[in-house]
Amino acid sequence: MQTWRFLNDEATRREFRLFWAAQRSVLESLHYLNRKSGRKSRRRWDIFLFLLRLFGFLLKLTGLYRKGYGNAKTIKTTHITLEYSNLPPAFDSFTILHLSDLHIDSIPGFAAIIIKKIKNLRFDICLLTGDYRKDIHGLFNHILKPMYALANYIQASYGTFAVLGNHDTWLMSRYEKETGINLLVNESVEIEKEGQKILITGTDDPYYYYTEMALMSLQTKGYDFKIALVHTPELAREAAANGYNLYLCGHTHGGQICLKEGLPILSHQYEGKQFNAGLWELGVMKGYTSRGVGVSGMPVRFNCPAEIVLITLKKNPSL
Ligand SMILES: [Fe+2]
Repeated sequence: MQTWRFLNDEATRREFRLFWAAQRSVLESLHYLNRKSGRKSRRRWDIFLFLLRLFGFLLKLTGLYRKGYGNAKTIKTTHITLEYSNLPPAFDSFTILHLSDLHIDSIPGFAAIIIKKIKNLRFDICLLTGDYRKDIHGLFNHILKPMYALANYIQASYGTFAVLGNHDTWLMSRYEKETGINLLVNESVEIEKEGQKILITGTDDPYYYYTEMALMSLQTKGYDFKIALVHTPELAREAAANGYNLYLCGHTHGGQICLKEGLPILSHQYEGKQFNAGLWELGVMKGYTSRGVGVSGMPVRFNCPAEIVLITLKKNPSL
């Protein structure tokens, strides 16, 4: 039995996709990084890369690199329960596996490490919030094999849905059928259980590839319970204003390298400290920023463990 359906019909989706692919391919090929709050500063990025190299050199010099690499390969499972009064009763105890920032090629054999963590988990749906490869540009064929391997283990009864991140390319959208991972590009899917429905909307990445199509996709009405999937926390306020109940994102890696837990040296987001990692609230909307599964920049983590997240939705009428 089909447990989900896209809101738009096949012909409309195809037309939308063509328009989006043309637009994103131009942005990608020109390296025109379009942030929601304006164009990115190239100088700031160059300074970051210089500091990163310097930091890597110091880590190797002090012998801490090996420790950080070991940390990056150790993934925690975070279990959280979120209660809502408006959750359709059929979705009580519905469980989401949230995976973000896989960067599956950042560590050799990383897919096998992730599979080992998830293969005994029980979940109803899997939601991925972007960044599947290590690099920002260039080839991505080498991630297909590990992504296929991982996809084999995330067969969820209510489907697997994903959005793209700033490390991803529009070309990845051509591999949906092989992986069974359904990409949501500024569109929504309806999940049905026992005749009751919830909505999941996924947007294109707003960190590098923001367009107003992302905002428009968050304006769907007519559902008691709505989940937004966005690579970054950048659209949280818009999602809350449009009646979303849960907002899942990543991108920050929780800082990846922290002085102590929750205190990152650098954070690639400008929305405020509360959105850096973990659970947060905006009005009645709850959000979760994953620390991510993988790593980028340097394959190390300090005071900021990698995580896969299991979220159980609970109905609580007394809230
Ligand atoms: Fe990212």
